[in-house]
Amino acid sequence: MKKLPKDFIFGGATAAYQAEGATQTDGKGRVAWDTYLEENYWYTAEPASDFYHRYPVDLELSEKFGVNGIRISIAWSRIFPTGFGEVNPKGVEYYHNLFSECHKRHVEPFVTLHHFDTPEVLHSDGDFLNRKNIDHFVDYAAYCFKEFPEVHYWTTFNEIGPIGDGQYLVGKFPPGIKYDFEKLFQSHHNMMLAHARAVKFYKDHGYSGEIGVVHALPTKYPYDPSNPGDVRAAELEDIIHNKFILDATYLGRYSQKTMEGVNHILSINGGNLDLREEDFEILESAKDLNDFLGINYYMSDWMRAFDGESEITHNSTGAKGGSKYQLKGVGRREFDVDVPRTDWDWMIYPQGLYDQMMRVKNDYPNYKKIYITENGLGYKDEFVDGTVKDDARIDYVKKHLEIISDAITAGVNVKGYFIWSLMDVFSWSNGYEKRYGLFYVDFETQERYPKKSAYWYKQLAETQIIE
Ligand code: NOJ
Repeated sequence: MKKLPKDFIFGGATAAYQAEGATQTDGKGRVAWDTYLEENYWYTAEPASDFYHRYPVDLELSEKFGVNGIRISIAWSRIFPTGFGEVNPKGVEYYHNLFSECHKRHVEPFVTLHHFDTPEVLHSDGDFLNRKNIDHFVDYAAYCFKEFPEVHYWTTFNEIGPIGDGQYLVGKFPPGIKYDFEKLFQSHHNMMLAHARAVKFYKDHGYSGEIGVVHALPTKYPYDPSNPGDVRAAELEDIIHNKFILDATYLGRYSQKTMEGVNHILSINGGNLDLREEDFEILESAKDLNDFLGINYYMSDWMRAFDGESEITHNSTGAKGGSKYQLKGVGRREFDVDVPRTDWDWMIYPQGLYDQMMRVKNDYPNYKKIYITENGLGYKDEFVDGTVKDDARIDYVKKHLEIISDAITAGVNVKGYFIWSLMDVFSWSNGYEKRYGLFYVDFETQERYPKKSAYWYKQLAETQIIE
């Protein structure tokens, strides 16, 4: 039986676009996702979990079930409808009310400035590929730091890696571009610049809270560790998803190994990066200022050597199997691996989280502390008799918490865990079918129902014992 520290945060995670609904309410500006979903899918982020109106209920439930931290993101386009310029007072007021309710309920808000939802005006103007939008982000961040002194934990970006991946490699986020490695790495780089500038600004202005960034760190293993081609494929996939942004965060530059991998990929797929000398001064200036690293971890992948054209047909329908992921000059993912996987072909492998925490500790010793800012099981929950008996979710979370406890024993400074998600929310590529919450949401009535996992989580938060 393992135990977590007494001062550990047992949190629940949400994100503005996935929880709030009210996408056109009280002066909110449009985001690219609004249009993208309307044009390509049968669902939208309306009503999501109607958090915009129902947050008092979710916070009351949080308090009741021992959840003492909540990840919330601010919708940039509620504050600045076009991304810059005039402020929307109703948006500002909404977040003041929300944060005040969090404190009333003793649920600490961990606030993210950008969770996939760049305002549409800026998105159409190149999103973070356009350096002008870095300035707009920093202005927006500066505004929020000043306006919301009640926030003590700030995150600049959520998942810079998957944003570049979704937008320019896999093509499942707007603008839906595929296999463009130049755009992928440039987006990573420019967003890391925006992060560094916001962190530097926060510290230079003497704000006393904590600031960091949330990275998704899926672990990449060679399918056959004795096959050099598989080892190389895993290394390159790791650079794409993890190492490039970790280097930027904590080294303030890209290591030789990282650049060798990036140049290799670009030499095969085409593309040139715009990396300027002054960029590295910016990255360098912030590399020791991050108070924490948020890690989102769901899965690991096994890579094989591959010599052919890129093709990704990632399974988003929920039918197990059928996913294809192969990248020219990189490698291919092997799905036929002897580990359990979710209905969406995500490989369940808690050891991968352990390996990422150790890697941060060993390779980036200036990391200070870690929060596991997302982890959880996406599942087709069965709602019976007013609840969901989600034993699979409990098992998933339990195994990951045990690994976290092992990492703490091994000297990693982990201070909290946020289950994704607090309540069921809208899912980017599955709409409302894939559920993660501790609380079941009936999306028709917007009623909340605690799942079995919520009761389990309550006991965990009260005792810190993982059982
Ligand atoms: C990570 C993202 O931050 C979140 O928005 C998403 O819904 C979860 N992963 C689950 O896929």
